[in-house]
Amino acid sequence: MQIRPEVYDDRAAVYAVTHAAFAGLDPMVEPEEVGLLQRLFDCEGYDPRFSIIARDDSAVIGHVIATWGTVGEEPLLGLGPIAVAPEYQHRGVGSILMQHIHDNAKNFGLSGIVLLGSPGYYRRFGYETATGHGIHPSDPSWDEHFMVRVFDKDKLPAGNYRYAAPFGC
Ligand SMILES: CC(C)(COP(=O)(O)OP(=O)(O)OC[C@H]1O[C@@H](n2cnc3c(N)ncnc32)[C@H](O)[C@@H]1OP(=O)(O)O)[C@@H](O)C(=O)NCCC(=O)NCCS
Repeated sequence: MQIRPEVYDDRAAVYAVTHAAFAGLDPMVEPEEVGLLQRLFDCEGYDPRFSIIARDDSAVIGHVIATWGTVGEEPLLGLGPIAVAPEYQHRGVGSILMQHIHDNAKNFGLSGIVLLGSPGYYRRFGYETATGHGIHPSDPSWDEHFMVRVFDKDKLPAGNYRYAAPFGC
């Protein structure tokens, strides 16, 4: 398996993997995550260092992205969406993508990454409730689902988090 930053030519395959991973009962209905991803690629918060694909010999099988949001004036990455093609799930691909994006963030000296997701899944990667670190979601009902992975607690900003514009929150 190859793990590397996404390039423009990967995007059709990334949309296809995201569609398949988030598909509901009707595969003809495009999941909202596909449109979100298209807007994230075009937004100011997009940073190619934090858009990572996994490939097997012939195809893209997974993708994760983190884009720049803010806490006040301070930039802070927000992770998501992450998607692994259904036929490749439960084989550790999602974990490898998470590890890789965290390694990049650490190598670039970032203080942390936030996300909105299932604590049951993300705690294994070191995520903790963000409010416990003074970072608050725009929607208080997100509660324990709004999480932060801390790399440098001394540099971590505190305040209200605003995601990259396409998230609308
Ligand atoms: C979430 C996802 C990226 C994980 O990818 P993956 O390659 O299957 O992940 P891994 O193999 O590294 O880890 C899988 C483990 O995570 C667990 N897991 C997956 N999704 C979970 C969730 N929402 N809550 C709790 N645990 C979860 C599984 O139980 C699995 O454990 P098991 O293999 O022992 O059953 C993949 O399942 C996916 O694309 N899901 C659909 C899209 C999605 O929900 N994305 C996350 C929200 S942005």
